Amino acid sequence: MSFDNLLIENLGAVRRITVNRPDKLNALNAQTLGELTRAFEQAGEDESVRVVILRGAGEKAFVAGADISELATVTPVQARDFARRGQHTMATIERLGKPVIAQIGGYALGGGMELALACHLRIASEKARLGQPEINLGVIPGFGGTQRLLRVTGRGVALELCLTGAQIDAARAYELNLVNRVVAPEELEAATLALAEQLAASAPEALRSTLDAVITGGEADLSTGLDYEAQAFSTCAATEDMREGTRAFLERRKAVFSGR
Ligand code: COA
Repeated sequence: MSFDNLLIENLGAVRRITVNRPDKLNALNAQTLGELTRAFEQAGEDESVRVVILRGAGEKAFVAGADISELATVTPVQARDFARRGQHTMATIERLGKPVIAQIGGYALGGGMELALACHLRIASEKARLGQPEINLGVIPGFGGTQRLLRVTGRGVALELCLTGAQIDAARAYELNLVNRVVAPEELEAATLALAEQLAASAPEALRSTLDAVITGGEADLSTGLDYEAQAFSTCAATEDMREGTRAFLERRKAVFSGR
């Protein structure tokens, strides 16, 4: 399937999805949101894909938010449906069952920051700027920003960012746990790919179980989450990859995971 606003590349077992509207700083219009959902569904279904990288085209932006030109004329009903569609896209990413890494080269604002927050890991360039500027437009984040940001940073910081609309730099984003790592701009692509390749060499069921235990279990109370973890641990024990991983350790060699 081809997309108007996305570029799709396969780099071994890593699928790289690039939002490709650089003249609009990769802003998410309704079409691009729909394409993102389909692209992630495809990546989820394709067994040859083990890890996904999401990035924006051009030097300036990851994604500079929802497309304000579309937002400007929406009715309340259209706004609710747009928010629901965006939330569905974010949930598709978060629940992919495969690690998704956001490669944040520049602005990640509004819907762009929400998109990054739906990814599992975030690597930012020193040039990156993050923020939830919706307040300046008279609205609030609508693609899960108030909820995921709250869960990552806690209430005080989530309120600070959403109430002020302030842009923060990569160093502050790192302090706030909003990004896992900050690298020089010229190192961003290679650093992201290296992390993706490392994950792609791991056992897929163990990756899936880790994501599931942390994301689904993390929404539950501790004892329910621990039950969830024990069940996921048991699922891994049904895989050939667990036999391979443990045997390789005992035989002092590197494990080769087959995905079975
Ligand atoms: N929606 C639609 N178009 C957007 C956009 C968005 N969220 N963000 C940027 N663009 C467009 C601009 O309108 C401009 O288009 P044009 O050249 O056709 O006029 C182009 O992208 C370049 O943006 P510009 O504002 O000229 O770049 P800049 O370097 O001066 O400023 C930003 C960069 C990110 C600070 C600024 O574009 C901005 O504030 N964007 C909106 C961020 C936002 O509020 N996001 C939340 C939306 S809910």
